[in-house]
Amino acid sequence: MIFSLLLSLITLGFLISSLKYSSSQLLYPNKLYIKLKKIASTFTTSYACPSITCLISFYKNRHRLLNWYTELLSQSAKQTIVVHRLGAPRTIVTANPDNVEYILKTNFANLPKGKPFTELLGDFLGLGIFNVDGEMWSIQRKLASHEFCTKSLREFVVKVLEDEVENRLVPILENAAENGSVLDMQEVLRRFAFDTICKVSLGMDPFCLDLSQPPPPLAAAFDSASQISAMRGAAPIFAVWKLKRALNVGLEKDLKDEVKLVHGCVDEMIKTKKEMMGKNNGGEGDLLSRFLEAGLDNEMVRDMVISFLMAGRDTTSAAVTWLFWLLTGHRRIEKQVVDEILAVNNDGGKLGFEDLKEMNFIKACLCESVRLYPPVVWDSKHAAKDDILPDGTPVYRGNRVTYFQYGMGRMEALWGKDRLEFRPDRWLDENGMVKMVSPYKFPVFQAGPRVCLGKEMAFIQMKYVVASVLRRFELEPVRSEQPVFVPLLTAYMAGGFNVRIRRRG
Ligand code: HEM
Repeated sequence: MIFSLLLSLITLGFLISSLKYSSSQLLYPNKLYIKLKKIASTFTTSYACPSITCLISFYKNRHRLLNWYTELLSQSAKQTIVVHRLGAPRTIVTANPDNVEYILKTNFANLPKGKPFTELLGDFLGLGIFNVDGEMWSIQRKLASHEFCTKSLREFVVKVLEDEVENRLVPILENAAENGSVLDMQEVLRRFAFDTICKVSLGMDPFCLDLSQPPPPLAAAFDSASQISAMRGAAPIFAVWKLKRALNVGLEKDLKDEVKLVHGCVDEMIKTKKEMMGKNNGGEGDLLSRFLEAGLDNEMVRDMVISFLMAGRDTTSAAVTWLFWLLTGHRRIEKQVVDEILAVNNDGGKLGFEDLKEMNFIKACLCESVRLYPPVVWDSKHAAKDDILPDGTPVYRGNRVTYFQYGMGRMEALWGKDRLEFRPDRWLDENGMVKMVSPYKFPVFQAGPRVCLGKEMAFIQMKYVVASVLRRFELEPVRSEQPVFVPLLTAYMAGGFNVRIRRRG
C-alpha cells in the first residue's frame, strides 16, 4: 500500500515534469517559450552542444535510442550533446576522440566510474575490479595485469579453447549439419563462452555447452543478476530500485536471491580450490588459483573472479555472433577468411597461438564487426570535480560523462562515407597487417589505464572460434531480415541467430 502510494507520487512527479518540458515544446511559438529558449541557449550555445531536455523526444525515440543519439551526435559540430533526464545527473555524451582521450587518460583521476555507476552493480559485483575506483581498483589491476601478461596464462587459455572446441562445439555443429536442424548460434556461443570463462577464471567446468540441458544454475543466476542490475540503470524513473531494494520486493528481491546463489557457488569453488591446492601444492593455471596463491582474502578473490566472469562472458559471444551474421551477407569476404585459415593451417591440425597471431584478416573482420556492433555500447564516468572537456563542454562535479562506442563506430567524421558498410580491408595496410588505430577513436575495449584487461585473450578466443567453425562449416541464416541489436550490459541479437549448418565443401 505504502509502496504503491510512493510509486504514484513519483510517477506524478515524473508526469508533471514531462508536462513542463513538453509544454515548452508543444505550445511554441509563444513568448514564454522563446524567452526560455534564449535563457537555455546561453547555457548551450556557449559550448555549442545541443541540450536534450524533452521527455517527449525520449519517449518517441525510445525504441531507437542508439541511432537517435548517433544522429544527434553527428549533427553536433563537436560531436557532443548534453542530456537532462529527470532525477539523473546532467549527462554529457560524446563521440569526440579528443574528449574520449581526455576522459580515459589525460584526466583519468577526475573521471572515475563513480558511485552512481558502482551502486548499480555493487550488490552483484561487490568490490571486484570491474566495479571499483581508486586504490581498490589499482591493487586488483596490478595483480591481474601481471597474470594476464604471463605466457602460462596464454597457454592455459589455448588449451581450454582446444578442449571446448573439439569436444563440445564441433560435435554440436556436426550433429546439426547431419540432421539439418536449426541452431541458435548466439545461444551456442554464449554457452561456449560461459564454459570457457569459467574454466579460465575458476578452473571449473560448468558444462554449459550441452544444448539438451537448461543452462546450469550458476549461468542462469549470473544472467538474471546482470540483467536486473542493468535494468536498474535503464529504468525511466531513476533510482526507484533503491526503494524496491529497501522493501525487498519485485526484481530487487529476485536480484538478492540470484546474487546469493552466485556467491554461494563461487564460495564453494574457492573452498574446493583451496583444498585441492593444499593437496597438490599449487594451482592449475586458472585465475582463481593465481589470486589465491597471491594471498588475497576469500571475499576479494570472490568479487574479482565474478568481475572476470562478467567481463569475459557475453562480450566475445556477442562479437562473434555479429561477425558470423555479417559474413553470411558477405560471402566474398567469408571466402577470404577461409583462405586465410587454410594458408595458416592447411592440414586441419590443432590451432596454436602462433597460427592465431598470423590471422590478420580475421582480426580485421572482428574489429570491423565490433566497430558496427560493439558488445559494450556506451560507458560512463562521473566527475569528481568541475572540469572542461577539450571541445569546451563544461562538466560540473557529479555530472555523468559518457563516451558512446556505438555512435563513434558510425560517425562519418571518423570512418568516412562508407561508415555503415562492413569493410574489413579498412583495418589493413598494404602488407595485409592490421593498422594501428587510435584507441580513442575506437574505444570498443575502452582505452587508457582502464583498457580492457582481457583484450588479447578475447582476440585469441574469437579467432579460435571463427577459424575452427568456418574452416569446417557454412552457416545459412533462417531469417533474411536484418536482426535487431539490443543493448543491455552487453549487447545481443534479439531472438537469437538461427542458422542451418552445412559442411564446407
Ligand atoms: C569482444 C570482447 C570484449 C570487449 C569488447 C570488452 C570490452 C571492455 C570494455 C568496454 C571495458 C570497460 C568497461 C567498464 O569499465 O565499464 C572492459 C573492461 C574489462 N574487461 Fe573486457 N571486453 C572484452 C572481453 C574481455 C574478456 C574475454 C575478458 C577476460 C576475462 C575481459 C576482461 C575485462 C576486465 C577485467 C575489465 C575491467 C578492467 C578495469 O576496470 O581495469 N574482457 N572490457
